[in-house]
Parts: sequence; C-alpha cells; structure tokens
Amino acid sequence: MSQAPIHPKLWSSRLAFILAATGSAVGLGNIWKFPYITGENGGGAFVLIYLLCIAIVGVPVLIAEIVVGRRGGKNPVATMQELTEQQGLSKAWRLVGWNGIAASCLVLSFYAVIGGWSMAYIIKMASGVFTSSTPEVTSSQFNNFLASTGDILLWHSIFMLLVIFIVARGIHAGVEKAVKLLMPMLFVLLLVMVGYAMTTGKFTEGVKFLFYPDFSKITTEGFLAALGHAAFTLSIGIGVIMAYGSYLPKNISIARTAFSIAILDTSMALLAGLAIFPLVFANNLEPSAGPGLIFVTLPLAFGNMTGGLLFGTAFFALLFIAALTSAMSMIEPVSEWLEESKGLSRAKSTLLGGVVIWFIGLGSVLSFNLWSQAYPLSFISIFEKKTFFDLVDFFVSNLMMPLGGLAIAIFAGWYLPRKGLPEDLGLFNLPFKIFMFVLRYLTPLGILVVFLYNLI
Ligand code: PFF
Repeated sequence: MSQAPIHPKLWSSRLAFILAATGSAVGLGNIWKFPYITGENGGGAFVLIYLLCIAIVGVPVLIAEIVVGRRGGKNPVATMQELTEQQGLSKAWRLVGWNGIAASCLVLSFYAVIGGWSMAYIIKMASGVFTSSTPEVTSSQFNNFLASTGDILLWHSIFMLLVIFIVARGIHAGVEKAVKLLMPMLFVLLLVMVGYAMTTGKFTEGVKFLFYPDFSKITTEGFLAALGHAAFTLSIGIGVIMAYGSYLPKNISIARTAFSIAILDTSMALLAGLAIFPLVFANNLEPSAGPGLIFVTLPLAFGNMTGGLLFGTAFFALLFIAALTSAMSMIEPVSEWLEESKGLSRAKSTLLGGVVIWFIGLGSVLSFNLWSQAYPLSFISIFEKKTFFDLVDFFVSNLMMPLGGLAIAIFAGWYLPRKGLPEDLGLFNLPFKIFMFVLRYLTPLGILVVFLYNLI
C-alpha cells in the first residue's frame, strides 16, 4: 500500500494534531479544577456558563492561535515577526511571541513539579501505604512528602527528563507517537474510573453535584472562574497552540478541528468529575479544591474501598498521563524557537530548553519545603503571602495568558489579512461573519473583563 509522504515538519494527519492538541488541553486543570469549580458554582448551571465561555473566548482564541501559527509556520516569535512585517505593523507585536515562549517555560516549570507528584503517587498507591488508612495518615503522607526536598526534586527531575526525552525525538517519532499511545490510554482509564465510581452507590450524588442546575449559586465570581478556566483548559494565549499550529498541514480546516479539541477537552473534564465525586461522597469526604482533593482525599477514599489499590493506582496513572501530554506541549515553543533561531538540532534545543525550565522549577520545588515561608515579593501587598510557586502561577495565569490571548484575538480579528481566511477556517458566508464578529468584539471584551477583575 502506498502512503502519502510525511513532511518532517508537519503533523502526519488531522488526527495526529487533534490528539496532540487535546493532549495539551486535557491536563491537571481538567482533573481537579474543573469538577471542583463546577460543583461549587451551581453544577449544571455552571456547565452552561462554562460552555458559553468556551464558545465566546475559548474556541475563538484557539482557532485564531492555530491560524496564526499555521500562516507563520515557525516558532511564535518568528511567526509574529513574519506576519507583522508583511503588513508593516509595529515590532511590538513580536512581544506576543516572546510572551508565549516565556510563559510556556514558566508554566512548565511548576507544572512539572506537580507532574512529579503524580508519578510518586502511582508508586505510593500501588505500595499499599493507603490501604485502610485514616485522614491523619493520608495527610501526613502528603505533608512529609512535600517536606522532603530530595523526594520532590527527584520526581520533578524524572518527569522533566521524560518530557525532554519524548519531545527531543521530534514531532513524529516523539510527540505523535506518544500521544497516539497515551491519549487512548487516558480515555480508557477515565472510562474505567467512571465505571468504578458507578459501583460506589453514590454515583447519582456525584451526577447531581456536577449537573444539577442550581441557578441561585451563580455569582460574578463563578462567571469569571468559568471564563478564566475556559482559557487555561484549552492551553491558549501562550504560544503553545501557535507552535503546534505551525506544524498543521495547509489542507486541514481549522474551525472543525478546534471544535473537536474543545469537545474532547470538555468531555474529559466532565468524565473526570463523574469519576471523582462519587468516591468522595461514598466516603463522606469533603469535595475541597486543589492538591488536597487529589493527594489527600482521594488516597483516603481509595484506601478504604474494595479494589482501591488497583483503581487508585490507575487513577494516578491517569493523572500522570494527562500531565505528561500537557507538559510536552509546553516545551514546544522554546524548543522550536531554539531550533530555528539558533540552528540547534531538535535534540539539543529541547535539552537546552528543558534544562533551563528544570532549573527555574527548583524554585517551585523549594516552595513546598525550604522556602515555604519565603515570600519574595512580600513588599507588594497583593503578593504578601505568595511563595515562588504561587508567584509564577499568578503571573502566568493572571497576566501572561490573558494578555497573550487578548493580543492573539485582536491580531487575528483585526490585522490578519482576510484573503483566504474562510478557506483556512472552513467557514463561509454567515458562519464566517458570525465567527469574525465574536473574535473581534466579544472575545476581547470577555478576556478584558476577567483580566481586570482578577487584577483588582
Ligand atoms: N490545559 C492544561 C490543563 O488544563 O491542565 C494546562 C495548560 C497546558 C496550560 C498547556 C497552558 C498550556 F500551554
């Protein structure tokens, strides 16, 4: 059978791109953050608002970033340079590319630390330390783990090495091969976990927590949380999707592809909620937010359930895979940039970028132990109690991502030549007009509102 030749710098198929971009999108954000903020903000009512935000901000910026990436065909800085030079626009637009490279490195620096925790917990879970455990045991396990600089550093380093190893092999032998194996695994594991949750007897309570539309719980904060999360969960605004988009073959229509990614991402977030909350309720535990839910509450639940050893281990494997495929995408902008602008080989550029990111990550490793009382910017009141880890998270999530997303929406909506755009998107006539209206007006407005609110 003869096959079309595969271009070394392009994804081999639409599916390959969808898997890679969905791998980027589905991450820690889906597995703990989305289910939790949904439950807290009115369940089904929040899901409706979130879907609206995905439609108004998430998908338009996702589409815009892919279009810009594919038109430029290079790393985010070179892409922005090329597309703006063609039209004699200000050099300041290149900042979108630089912001992307910096932000994606920063986000990976702390994401890899949590990715390391997920690996450590696969082993902890499998070893049986949580079997029949008590709340005291699971929290002391977690606190002792965080207090041990050596342990966290070890797992953080192993996680980064893995990311570097895969991405260094290039988009075909590395990224594509990994996502074609890992994404189906992730999906199957998620379904298995939902199946397990159905056996707990508290499945309907979980379904109710997630889907029952309680409109009285909708607040301004909930609305803003939905909007902010819509951007984070789709990995937009920081050049990651632009870099992935630069490898997208010309004949693939972007709008349909972006919709598939958003639908897959949202479905996985909802499935994660259906897998987690029945276990929490079956064990009379608190559905609280953040690391506590995943690393303290869930081990306690698994430790006290039939089959918990097996399914608990599977859950952390799931978390690890989700984190890994997201992390792989975060190193792409810097790797592509070093490769193209410094003429380094793929392997060397990924290694160099990875080592720098690993080094920055040491600050986050220490934020949980030796530097847990160090607040580097405490002289500024809003940063008073923020560790290095908190600060990096704050700058990326509240400044660099929204500003990057805003700039990309404005650039694609107002400055990108219209010629050929309907063909790029696969949207014509009225759907195209509606899309452009949303991208030019509603998307920037939506991002601005969240951005200003979060700052104030
Ligand atoms: N979308 C990922 C998540 O939901 O966990 C996080 C993420 C990945 C953010 C890649 C930014 C990024 F560039």
